[in-house]
Amino acid sequence: MGSEQAGTAAKQTATYTYGHTPAVVAVHAARSATREAAFFLPHLQPGMRLLDVGCGPGTITVGLAAAVAPAEVVGVDVAESVLEQGRSLAREEHVPNVRFQQGSALTLPFEADSFDAVFSHTLLEHVADPAAVLREARRVLRPGGVIGVRDCDWESGIFWPADPDLDLAAQLYARVWAHNGGHPTCGRRLRALLQESGFRRVATSASFRWDGSQDGSASGSRAFGELLAHRLLLPNLAGPIVESGWADDATLRRVSGSCARWSQHPDALCAMTMVEAVGWSD
Ligand SMILES: C[S@@+](CC[C@H](N)C(=O)[O-])C[C@H]1O[C@@H](n2cnc3c(N)ncnc32)[C@H](O)[C@@H]1O
Repeated sequence: MGSEQAGTAAKQTATYTYGHTPAVVAVHAARSATREAAFFLPHLQPGMRLLDVGCGPGTITVGLAAAVAPAEVVGVDVAESVLEQGRSLAREEHVPNVRFQQGSALTLPFEADSFDAVFSHTLLEHVADPAAVLREARRVLRPGGVIGVRDCDWESGIFWPADPDLDLAAQLYARVWAHNGGHPTCGRRLRALLQESGFRRVATSASFRWDGSQDGSASGSRAFGELLAHRLLLPNLAGPIVESGWADDATLRRVSGSCARWSQHPDALCAMTMVEAVGWSD
C-alpha cells in the first residue's frame, strides 16, 4: 500500500504536518507571487477581488495584491499566528488593498459569489478532503471566476549526491504526512480534483521547486536538506515515526545528521515537481 492510501485509511481529518515553527514559516515567507504564482498571474487583472486560501505568512498574497489593485485581496489561514506576518509585510510595503483573516478553508467566512479569483498554494496537499476545499472555493467564486492551485508531487523528488539516508528521510516524511491525512502526491491529482469539484474547464502546467539555481547558488537545495534534518526530529514527526515502528530514535538522529551534511555539500541539488492548475467556474 502506498503512503497515500495508508493515510487515507488512517484518518478523516488532517493534521498540518509542517507545523508553524520559525524554520518552517521562514521557508514559506521566502515565497513570492512572481515565482510561486507565475502560472496564475496571466489570468489576473486590475480590479479582480481575490482570495488566497491557506495563505500562511502572506508573501505570495501581498504580491497578488499588486496584480489586482485597486481591488481587495483577502488572505485566509486557519492559523492566526502566521497572519500577523502578512499584516506586517503589507504595512512595511505600503500595500493598502490586502487584509488577512483567520478562517477555515472548509467553511470560508464569505458569501457566495463574492470573489473574482481564488488562489491556493500548497494547501490542498495538507487537507484530508481537497475536493471539499475546492467546492468551498467554488461557492465563493462568482460565475466565470478563476481559481489557481499549486501543489507538490513529493515522489517526483530528485536528489544529488545520492544518499540512502536522504531517501529514507523523504520516505519517512511522506509517511507521516499521509498518516496525518495529507496527500504528498496531491499534484498529480489536481485536474481530477478540480473537475470533480465542478470546474469543468481546467488548464494544467508544472514547474519545480527547491533547486537553488536561480540565484547561482545551492541555497534552495541547502534549505531542503536543512529543513528535512530539522523537521525529522520535531515531536510531530519523530513521535509517529517511532511509535509506528517505522524507524527508531537512533536511526532518526543518524538520518537527520545525514540530511544536514548533505545540505552542505557543494554539489547538492534537489528538485521536485510542482503541479499547477487553473480552473474556471461557470
Ligand atoms: C504549506 S503552508 C502554505 C502557505 C502559503 N500558501 C505558502 O505557500 O507560502 C499551508 C498553510 O495552510 C494552512 N492550513 C492548513 N489547513 C488549513 C485549513 N483547513 N484552512 C485554512 N488554512 C489551512 C496552514 O496553517 C499553513 O499556513
